[in-house]
Amino acid sequence: MKLTIDGKSVTAEEGQTVLECALENDISIPHLCAHPSLSPFGACRLCVVEIEGMRGYPTSCTTPAAEAMVVRTDTEALRDLRRNILALMMLEHPSACLVCGRRDLCEQYRPEAEKAGSTTGCHTCNNKEVCEVRALAEDLGFAELPVPPIYHERPLERSEPFMDRDLNLCILCGRCVRICKEHQGRAVIDFVGRGSQTRIGQAFGYSLLEAGCQFCGSCVDVCPTGSLADRYAKWHGRPEGVTESTCIFCDEACALALATANNKLVAAQAAIENVPACVLGRFA
Ligand code: SF4
Ligand code: SF4
Ligand code: SF4
Ligand code: FES
Repeated sequence: MKLTIDGKSVTAEEGQTVLECALENDISIPHLCAHPSLSPFGACRLCVVEIEGMRGYPTSCTTPAAEAMVVRTDTEALRDLRRNILALMMLEHPSACLVCGRRDLCEQYRPEAEKAGSTTGCHTCNNKEVCEVRALAEDLGFAELPVPPIYHERPLERSEPFMDRDLNLCILCGRCVRICKEHQGRAVIDFVGRGSQTRIGQAFGYSLLEAGCQFCGSCVDVCPTGSLADRYAKWHGRPEGVTESTCIFCDEACALALATANNKLVAAQAAIENVPACVLGRFA
């Protein structure tokens, strides 16, 4: 089918969403909860667009592309709306650094600040070099928080093997929940609690081990914030290089992407999309 996005005539496959079609044609639409390996969820609302003949601002990640559709992705109204949506999301996130004019100098002179342990802003966050929220804030020209953000003071969870969890940074995008269900077929983690107390966790207060986690690390790999982290790799920042190899631990010989920093192997991830590695390949 044919449709028009930002004045460009594009074609879409049956079943494709407007977001998928736009990205495939190099038209960028801000998004956080959407991920190419996961089913659409429609939680963050950052991917709103204008579609002729449709009321309001539909989310492009949940709207199927249709014949003769006319879509606008980058109007002043949309940019304002996205900044407001991000501002609301950042009210429960340690987000002061996102709007601080001295951030670059601060990060230059305090490069080791993340070793402080708890993350009270980007300056103490080990995810800052690869953070999708931060990249999005920069793209949107996000410069102001309407009121000071709330810091929930949830304790850093470090008692599970291999992975740390800091729910103060979670934006409830649901990527971790979906990847565990859709790729591992496990549903180890889910949304627990209600209203403002909603968080990511395991049923009945189980630990990840008790809940049957395979420690594949897929949830860590798709998290757009610093909320889920590989306990070892997180200290090495953005890898300097990635090499493809095969795992040596069993006959399956899974394809792995090996990340290096300072000439050291710092992380191993599954190299084939939608095929998670096991705990040996990912963390051993
Ligand atoms: S998750 Fe991203 S936006 Fe949040 S503190 Fe860390 S680097 Fe900053
Ligand atoms: S490590 Fe794998 S199995 Fe465990 S919670 Fe994350 S996605 Fe699910
Ligand atoms: S832990 Fe990460 S992936 Fe999971 S909902 Fe929170 S921000 Fe999203
Ligand atoms: S990316 Fe569409 S609602 Fe989050």
